[in-house]
Amino acid sequence: QLADIGVLGLAVMGANLARNAARKGFGVAVFNRNGARTDELINEHGSEGRFTPSKLIPDFVASIAKPRAIIIMVKAGKPVDDVIEELLPHLETGDIIIDGGNSLYTDTNRRFHYLKDRDIKFIGMGVSGGEEGALEGPSMMPGGTREAYARIEPIVTKMAAQVDGEACCSYIGTEGSGHYVKMVHNGIEYADMQLITEAYDLFKTVYGLEAPAIADIFAEWMKGDLDSYLIDITSAVLRKLDDTGKPLVDSIVDEAEQKGTGRWTAQSALDLGIPLTSITEAVFARALSGRRAQRAEAEKLFPHEAPAKRQITQADIDAIKDALYASKIVAYAQGFEHLTVASEQFGWDLKLGEVASLWRGGCIIRARFLNRIRDAYDAGVAGPNLLMQDYFRDAVVAAEPNWRKVVGLAIEQGIPVPAFASSIAYYDGLRRARGPANLLQGLRDYFGAHTYGRLDKPGKFHTRWSQDGSEIQA
Ligand code: 6PG
Repeated sequence: QLADIGVLGLAVMGANLARNAARKGFGVAVFNRNGARTDELINEHGSEGRFTPSKLIPDFVASIAKPRAIIIMVKAGKPVDDVIEELLPHLETGDIIIDGGNSLYTDTNRRFHYLKDRDIKFIGMGVSGGEEGALEGPSMMPGGTREAYARIEPIVTKMAAQVDGEACCSYIGTEGSGHYVKMVHNGIEYADMQLITEAYDLFKTVYGLEAPAIADIFAEWMKGDLDSYLIDITSAVLRKLDDTGKPLVDSIVDEAEQKGTGRWTAQSALDLGIPLTSITEAVFARALSGRRAQRAEAEKLFPHEAPAKRQITQADIDAIKDALYASKIVAYAQGFEHLTVASEQFGWDLKLGEVASLWRGGCIIRARFLNRIRDAYDAGVAGPNLLMQDYFRDAVVAAEPNWRKVVGLAIEQGIPVPAFASSIAYYDGLRRARGPANLLQGLRDYFGAHTYGRLDKPGKFHTRWSQDGSEIQA
């Protein structure tokens, strides 16, 4: 019997997706460049379902029912192109290649059209949830033609995480839209994690709490609006002791690595002119963390008088919680606005309520409050900026005094909180009908005759600053 689907690339994500499909009753053809991995998968998990292992690409392709659907799980970049070239000679019209990695959406756009010209369908599918998600049920964001999606829909919707009887997988749009949505998901993931680390830093540095005590606070927060996967695992990471009996986190090098998706999100926001401040600050914070040697030098040059540790009160904990929640709302509002603009710009017609819905389970940013975002879109009240929707407006207004207090305290004590601070700066900038860019326009006109508009009359104007100072209509 031919397999229902193929999985090429059996590193941990690919192997777990293959096992997931097999456990759900699908026949799965598997292939890995290094055949030892294929053997390993079959030896260890072959009994979980119907696997067809192959050692050669032609055999692998031939073992899948037509039109063939092949999920490739290889490193983003050139390896994806290489695998496509290896598969192509063996595929037939209508076969589908699904790239489940974290590919850059412009690469996916290119591959979509390249394969279309060769009568092969291509789906760029964001897959979130890490190793465990891939096995137990990830969140999946497939982009490509609807027709191609229809072929894999019965399989991927069964593989995906389920929330309230709904699969965390639905058709996103054409071309690279699935990978784009996954990219923004990762950007939000960056912001979420940066906010968590800022809260941790305050507890540790301002209040002198040890990791296990901070773990308890995060565990407590799981009972409220902050209930989310990342808050949950924060508590687990902080609680973990190493062999010496000390908190593991205290021995982990404070240098954040990154594979690119957060940076791509920020880059795309810059290109589209979207004020995506939280995610971008999170990317910059990782970059600064990476300059470890420079930081060590600077610490000697600019010694920082450690502030006397404050005794923490419940009010302090609540204040940090409010700052975290309000900043998180800003990050998600910005991320969804980013998707709104990208959807218009690229003609993708993204259904943002569905995106919120499929992020409720399986993925890294899964969180209780995504229900609120989904509800806002379903009710048609979301508007371009979620911050202005009733629930979120009330939440940030309620959090505002504490949010301001926490950011003020951090700055006073010399603790960097770039994501908290940029979120409140964005909020303060947003809620002002008149900002200070009038002066900026004046400056631009002064040195470059770039012109300005006036509040009191229509048109564009220029002042002859270095001549007679008169104003002319441009
Ligand atoms: C997910 C994760 C996953 C991966 C990130 C990590 O949704 O499952 O986002 O895709 O862990 O790519 O990204 P960085 O290495 O850039 O932190």
